[in-house]
Amino acid sequence: MNNIYSIGITGIGSYIPEKIVTNKDLTKIVDTSDKWIVERTGIKERRITDDQTSTSDIATIAAKNALKDGEILPEELDLILVATVTPDMAFPSTACIVQDNIGAVNAAAFDISVGCSGFIYGLSVGSNFIKAGAYKKVLVIGAETLSKIVNWEDRNTCILFGDGAGACVLERCKEGSGFLSFDLGSDGSDGHLLTQPAGGSRLPASYETVSNNLHTIKMDGREVFKFAVRIMEKTSIEVLNKANLSLGEIDFLVPHQANIRIIQSARKKLKLTEDKVYVNLDKYGNLSSASIPVALDEAYRKGLLKNGKVILLVAFGAGLTWGSTLLKWNK
Ligand code: ACO
Repeated sequence: MNNIYSIGITGIGSYIPEKIVTNKDLTKIVDTSDKWIVERTGIKERRITDDQTSTSDIATIAAKNALKDGEILPEELDLILVATVTPDMAFPSTACIVQDNIGAVNAAAFDISVGCSGFIYGLSVGSNFIKAGAYKKVLVIGAETLSKIVNWEDRNTCILFGDGAGACVLERCKEGSGFLSFDLGSDGSDGHLLTQPAGGSRLPASYETVSNNLHTIKMDGREVFKFAVRIMEKTSIEVLNKANLSLGEIDFLVPHQANIRIIQSARKKLKLTEDKVYVNLDKYGNLSSASIPVALDEAYRKGLLKNGKVILLVAFGAGLTWGSTLLKWNK
């Protein structure tokens, strides 16, 4: 039973780096074509950070934008959560670096590692801290610099990912609005389908791990694709059931932006018309845990999120993991 009522988003912001890498640019470094990438993924270009910019740098900009939007001072924050698979380093956490950068002197801070589902997990964790009465204002950030861990010689993966960050402030809100339900899940038995093998305690960094390219993303795209199509529908139905809502009651879908074919499959199964689904992966590619907050922020700024409308956020990712939430927009 979910009782996560009356906690919602009161501030939202994002940041996307300026540098654009088009599909045509990629044809100069791997054997691919704009036609193949657009037809198989829907991606036309992606943004990447420069060598000096890390995940905490772009997370900080997104965080400041969200605080400004919500008219919230950094010292009012009780907790900062950063969902990322591309932290600045193993420790300290990227959340602690952001905490210092924005001057959130009263906030606890930690990272969440759940692949592309990380932002939904963050929303759930943050909501539950507020629901339990422990905290009043929680900043949830999804931030990634996937360009730093992509193997730029692997055409199976380098075409897919980009860099970006999005952030939301969570607070109590009007009764009956905000988050209506959450559904989170994991299946570690298929974790091998999507990994960054080296750099941890299993395979510490060594000359061999670097020369064998084991610090970059390895993915079985076909299997992840099948999992994604299946789980997007399953978790969406589950989260509707938890909120006692039916398919026809979803007003807008903001899905994880990994592949247009995965999004279209989910859209059809959820019986939604194209105008009810937000898509920006043509511009940014897959931003992992930043994908949903960036898309949500863009949809909000375009006036697509109306007060009282029910929005479904749904993601899948490394782990393997999945997560969804229903949100009655109330900003
Ligand atoms: N350009 C041209 N050809 C390519 C490229 C490319 N960039 N990439 C692969 N190919 C080739 C393959 O080598 C293969 O050739 P072969 O038949 O001679 O072996 C052929 O195209 C088809 O390959 P598939 O892998 O079957 O292509 P598919 O249609 O499945 O598309 C893709 C691949 C885009 C990776 C797709 O499987 C996908 O999107 N999977 C989901 C990935 C995903 O969502 N990952 C994110 C997870 S979230 C996270 O936590 C990071």
